[in-house]
Amino acid sequence: MAAVDAILVTGGAGYVGSHAVEALCRAGYAVTVVDDLSQGHRAAVPPAADLVVGDAGDRPLLDRLMATRPYHAVMHFAARSLVGESMRDPAPYLAGNVRVAQAVIDAAVAHKVGKLVLSSTANIFASSDGRPITEESPIDPGSPYGEGKYMVERLLHWADRCHGLRSAALRYFNAAGAHPDGHLGEDHRPETHLIPIVLEVALGKRPHLDIFGDDYETPDGTCIRDYVHVCDIAEAHIKVLDVLDERSARYNVGTGSGYSVRQVVEAAERVIGRRITVRMAPRRPGDPPVLVANGSRLRRETGWAPKLPDLDSMIATAWEWRRRHPDGYVG
Ligand code: UFG
Repeated sequence: MAAVDAILVTGGAGYVGSHAVEALCRAGYAVTVVDDLSQGHRAAVPPAADLVVGDAGDRPLLDRLMATRPYHAVMHFAARSLVGESMRDPAPYLAGNVRVAQAVIDAAVAHKVGKLVLSSTANIFASSDGRPITEESPIDPGSPYGEGKYMVERLLHWADRCHGLRSAALRYFNAAGAHPDGHLGEDHRPETHLIPIVLEVALGKRPHLDIFGDDYETPDGTCIRDYVHVCDIAEAHIKVLDVLDERSARYNVGTGSGYSVRQVVEAAERVIGRRITVRMAPRRPGDPPVLVANGSRLRRETGWAPKLPDLDSMIATAWEWRRRHPDGYVG
């Protein structure tokens, strides 16, 4: 990489995006973030990056930015990303996320940006059938969120075939944890994700955790997920850039270990040393029972390996962030 390679990051003020921006800056890239701050936070953008506040689907804005300098790659994070919300209100996921992605892809093609890395999701897959999910496992999105992301993957397939835009779709399993320095973390409003909610219960900000279903066909009846540290996900974005010199690719990004909701609660109690009060609640629509990755292709082809693969480290870093920032970025 030349030290001056520039990367345009949409949604770089969000949870995964901000960790990727931090990793890119640390690796010596010049980073421009486009984020409308509807879900992201200004304070999550590292000072070394330029922040442009605006809609990532605003084509004239993208044209202006891409005309100012040659970008080595675009990393596209900007999207609505809540499985449960997408079941109640699918349009922003099916139409909205796809519209924004189409604008980003069209701009990248028009300005001859040769590489695009997409923030995709494990939710494009049906539940694991007992075996970890490979890139060849059947696509069967669990929700409009997953369906919209898969539609964007198909847009990218054709952008490569028709225009030569190389892309990597990174299907994240469950992003978790926070930067070990404690300055970046997870701050969704409203918060719907399991680990941050568990931490809010530990802090006394919520009376209990609702466990969404304990009648799934899993050993303890609760859903199983493959939690992967957000800094490891960030690193994967940098690793795949070299692959894109040769070809487009898609990768499942996970550790290969699955933990149930109850196991997450137990791990949090162990790491934090406090009891987490739980209450049983009905299943949440759109939740596949088991999502666990076979991430061997990413390891084999890029040399990626998670540095913080254990659930306790994910919870410990998330807890450190939360302890230091009990009110998130606002505080
Ligand atoms: N859960 C609860 N109670 C809560 C919150 C969550 O029981 O209050 C359960 C969910 O039902 C699910 C598990 O905890 O079984 C994890 O839920 P999250 O909301 O933390 O994460 P999701 O699995 O729904 O979704 C996340 C990302 C998606 C991504 C998906 C891939 O938010 O963008 O992982 O697996 F698609």
